[in-house]
Amino acid sequence: MIRDYIPSFVRGRGRFTKSQRRAYQRLYDKYCIPFREEKIDIKKVMGFPEVIAEIGFGMGMVTAEIAERNPHVGYLGIEVYKPGVGKLLSEIARRGLRNIKIVHEDAVKVIAFMIPSDSLKGVHIFFPDPWPKKRHHKRRLIKEGFASLLCSRLEPGGYVYITTDWEDYARQILLVLSKTDGLENAYDGFAPPQDWRPTTRFEKKGYRESRRVFEILFKKI
Ligand SMILES: C[S@@+](CC[C@H](N)C(=O)[O-])C[C@H]1O[C@@H](n2cnc3c(N)ncnc32)[C@H](O)[C@@H]1O
Repeated sequence: MIRDYIPSFVRGRGRFTKSQRRAYQRLYDKYCIPFREEKIDIKKVMGFPEVIAEIGFGMGMVTAEIAERNPHVGYLGIEVYKPGVGKLLSEIARRGLRNIKIVHEDAVKVIAFMIPSDSLKGVHIFFPDPWPKKRHHKRRLIKEGFASLLCSRLEPGGYVYITTDWEDYARQILLVLSKTDGLENAYDGFAPPQDWRPTTRFEKKGYRESRRVFEILFKKI
């Protein structure tokens, strides 16, 4: 997969509520794609000619919101946090969405094993875990190997859009993507706020703590 791989998350945290558990049990088979170490025809499986993946959707409210506004695009949500998967499943059912599917697994594995080259229109990563302590920086999701992997899975002209409210991580992401062969910055430095993106749960917390949001948008050449 990726050499010297260190996961960007810790499993088993958070409370799995009764309603999330019920949604997970009732809706998993309908809206989740089980992880397997084999490529899938993602457009066919999703049933849409354009597919955008969202990595680490948290509780998934922004995923649901974006998918509802764009019913002709398929959204593949990838998350390791089981309560979040349960929550998004219930939201898909509540809103009657037909264009979201979920893989409940580490996105690095999902992208590496399941997603074919040149198959995604875009990748969204909103507020990846910042791992602020220096000794934890190695856990950050966005690093060179993963950026190249993402680039290989994008269609030509496809994009990767990342937001974070940690300035040093934002600068690291900008540098890593700038050095990735095949990607080019859609802007000069950080991107202006993309007004189509709803505010995420994690972002609201950052605003309360007066943190600025940095946006990064690169396209595949
Ligand atoms: C800081 S939260 C942000 C959640 C959401 N995007 C938001 O802005 O509210 C980061 C999320 O990424 C998920 N995550 C971290 N590493 C992941 C990985 N390798 N694969 C899938 N999900 C991951 C975590 O479980 C967590 O829910």
